[in-house]
Amino acid sequence: MFAVHLMAFYFSKLKEDQIKKVDRFLYHMRLSDDTLLDIMRRFQAEMEKGLAKDTNPTAAVKMLPTFVRAIPDGSEKGEFLSLDLGGSKFRVLKVQVAEEGKRHVQMESQFYPTPSEVIRGNGTELFEYVADCLADFMKTKDLKHKKLPLGLTFSFPCRQTKLEEGVLISWTKKFKARGVQDTDVVSRLTKAMRRHKDMDVDILALVNDTVGTMMTCAYDDPHCEVGVIIGTGTNACYMEDMSNIDLVEGDEGRMCINTEWGAFGDDGALEDIRTEFDRELDLGSLNPGKQLFEKMISGLYLGELVRLILLKMAKAGLLFGGEKSSALHTKGKIETRHVAAMEKYKEGLANTREILVDLGLEPSEADCVAVQHVCTIVSFRSANLCAAALAAILTRLQENKRVERLRTTVGVDGTLYKIHPQYPKRLHKVVRKLVPSCDVRFLLSESGSTKGAAMVTAVASRVQAQRKQIDKVLALFRLTREQLVDVQAKMRAELEYGLKKKSHALATVRMLPTYVCGLPDGTEKGKFLALDLGGTNFRVLLVKIRSGRRSVRMYNKIFAIPLGIMQGTGEELFDHIVQCIADFLDYMGLKGAPLPLGFTFSFPCRQMSIDKGALIGWTKGFKATDCEGEDVVDMLREAIKRRNEFDLDIVALVNDTVGTMMTCGYEDPNCEIGLIAGTGSNLCYMEDMRNIEVVEGDEGKMCINTEWGGFGDNGCIEDIWTQYDMEVDEGSLNPGKQRYEKMTSGMYLGEIVRQILIDLTKQGLLFRGQISERLRTRGIFETKFLSQIESFSRILQETVKELAPRCDVTFMLSEDGSGKGAALITAVAKRIQQAWKEN
Ligand code: BG6
Ligand code: GLC
Ligand code: GLC
Repeated sequence: MFAVHLMAFYFSKLKEDQIKKVDRFLYHMRLSDDTLLDIMRRFQAEMEKGLAKDTNPTAAVKMLPTFVRAIPDGSEKGEFLSLDLGGSKFRVLKVQVAEEGKRHVQMESQFYPTPSEVIRGNGTELFEYVADCLADFMKTKDLKHKKLPLGLTFSFPCRQTKLEEGVLISWTKKFKARGVQDTDVVSRLTKAMRRHKDMDVDILALVNDTVGTMMTCAYDDPHCEVGVIIGTGTNACYMEDMSNIDLVEGDEGRMCINTEWGAFGDDGALEDIRTEFDRELDLGSLNPGKQLFEKMISGLYLGELVRLILLKMAKAGLLFGGEKSSALHTKGKIETRHVAAMEKYKEGLANTREILVDLGLEPSEADCVAVQHVCTIVSFRSANLCAAALAAILTRLQENKRVERLRTTVGVDGTLYKIHPQYPKRLHKVVRKLVPSCDVRFLLSESGSTKGAAMVTAVASRVQAQRKQIDKVLALFRLTREQLVDVQAKMRAELEYGLKKKSHALATVRMLPTYVCGLPDGTEKGKFLALDLGGTNFRVLLVKIRSGRRSVRMYNKIFAIPLGIMQGTGEELFDHIVQCIADFLDYMGLKGAPLPLGFTFSFPCRQMSIDKGALIGWTKGFKATDCEGEDVVDMLREAIKRRNEFDLDIVALVNDTVGTMMTCGYEDPNCEIGLIAGTGSNLCYMEDMRNIEVVEGDEGKMCINTEWGGFGDNGCIEDIWTQYDMEVDEGSLNPGKQRYEKMTSGMYLGEIVRQILIDLTKQGLLFRGQISERLRTRGIFETKFLSQIESFSRILQETVKELAPRCDVTFMLSEDGSGKGAALITAVAKRIQQAWKEN
């Protein structure tokens, strides 16, 4: 009994001594919590640096956009090929995703060797070898007759500008094939596959193994938004907010970023923690100076680090009685699997002895204990460093989401993580200590990264097919130059037709004389009221014009016109207008002064003089009864009379296009066209009197309100109508009318988009085929949404320039609306009236 105790005492004393000895020797490899927190902060800064446009070129950690924008949602399906190249094993696979609506993946795979003469030889031969393996696989699995999409897991840093392309930045780990760096590996492989005439494979996605791993795990756990590899190499990816990714356009949603954290420290950022062993290992590697973080962590290097340490200790007489074997001198003799075996809980010591003996050494009991502890320190440091970088990523996710606690899942893969008995436990523990505010679940990717790569490919192939179908639909809206020239010619013909006496009455482009014959000359003055009815808003304005100085002061109030009134009776509509005027006069303290009034009325009116005009027909959103064919000036006068509170002198009836032209003409006397691209679409311009056959006289010019919104009502532009235009027309207040307006103006553009969205959804191309109640609602998609997406004015100006190259056109935005112009017209009319009376 005593002897047993003595033995135990002796052994624990021996153990303690050995551990102390090794601890002292490897003091520099044991990282305190403070150091880890410091490294975590350094890595946070590295990520920022890699993400920002200015600093990315010099950043060691490249933070590569992957063009993977979402984790799988379960709707992925199909049959795919997959290659997995760059880890410890090269695999070719066939993946069947989701059979009969089930969330289910079936895989068949085959491993192929990667001889060093292939992976470190000529690049073209490497890709030919890969293509040959694929061909062999397809032959054995009887797949050669099929056209299958392929997802390529390629576990090296690649710069991507789309999913199906990737330029190799540099080889890492064991690979170093010549002439591949800086080339697109997808086209290299595609080219190599072309040698096999009986193979028809389309590479749709290139993914890093971290991304594949994240996607694999996310298929089972939708919280998964980080992928980590601790294998031959080490690396991580995570979902970053698009708004933080400078290198990719767009701010919406997220994109997966391949951090390539293995290169952390390549700029010297980790020199203070690197040891002489790290430097020696680096010098003997395939890529000296590169992947310095990876070289402290991953499976390809851990065993070698242990060997270098043991050798140094033996040389110092701290191990094996100072003896060294030739195996201990040989690079690569200790591998990660040895390290893992030596650290096994129970058999560890026995394994250690066996391994050392195999290395030609004669270890004592004490040596075995010491060597085991060396392994522990090296692998512990690896887990610690990994944890620090991972903690930085988790903190970033948490900050992006602005949550106090982050609940997330990390997908992990890699031989070191999988075969080392203590590694996962240690890693998890340290991560939790470094980021106590995160609830992290670690999920081992059982099936490697290919399942995830197949998900990405599935999405890519669906997107590809959808894009084709969507492009087909949208192609209808892309007018060619020939089509535009044709529209231009037809419009020109319609304009002339409308001006001619014999065809005027039948014209669809009505070419209405406005009795506005000149621009203001600057002598106008006085106080005027203006109404502006027919656009988005109804406005009442007071306009004070001072002569000589071309300066105008305006006061206005906006009123809503309820739908019930727009589409009620004419009397109600005009009573409402007069009510608004009364409110405005009260508000301005102007009741009693019978001011001259200009009435901007943005609908087609047949005018007999400046202050008379019969409404030809309502357009846009108006449909009040008993107005069409009536003189709207009379209707307004009668409504004022009915109210019997004040009197107004209605001097001019003005279309909004004319008002706009006048507003701009007051500042720029060259202005001779007024264009409205608003709720409705219309244009007026100054025409020579001799061309206006329906008005007497040949001298000078008169403004013509074209009412071009009606262009096409005779079917002349049928060839550019789409089914969506038909649907919008049918659902409108005036079917068959204003066909051109319905293709161009604000009231309808949103509706056209809505019709397209409905159709694409019906075709299963959008919103997973589900048409929501809101999407079914007319008018829900407002034109202002479109203008957030597209810049219309630029397109308009560019196309005008292209189609009318001999015209030098200045586009001037009417900042003050058409009310000011209406007042100016009123002022001119008033002046003429006065002069006429005086004569
Ligand atoms: C495998 C993945 O499971 O793990 C590979 O399928 C990945 O894509 C590999 O490269 C990483 O681990 P290792 O240890 O093989 O480099
Ligand atoms: C290396 C590669 C990286 C890969 C990692 C794990 O670090 O550069 O792309 O993800 O190894 O395989
Ligand atoms: C409609 C009207 C027209 C108006 C245009 C812009 O097309 O018919 O008179 O100018 O909308 O508001």
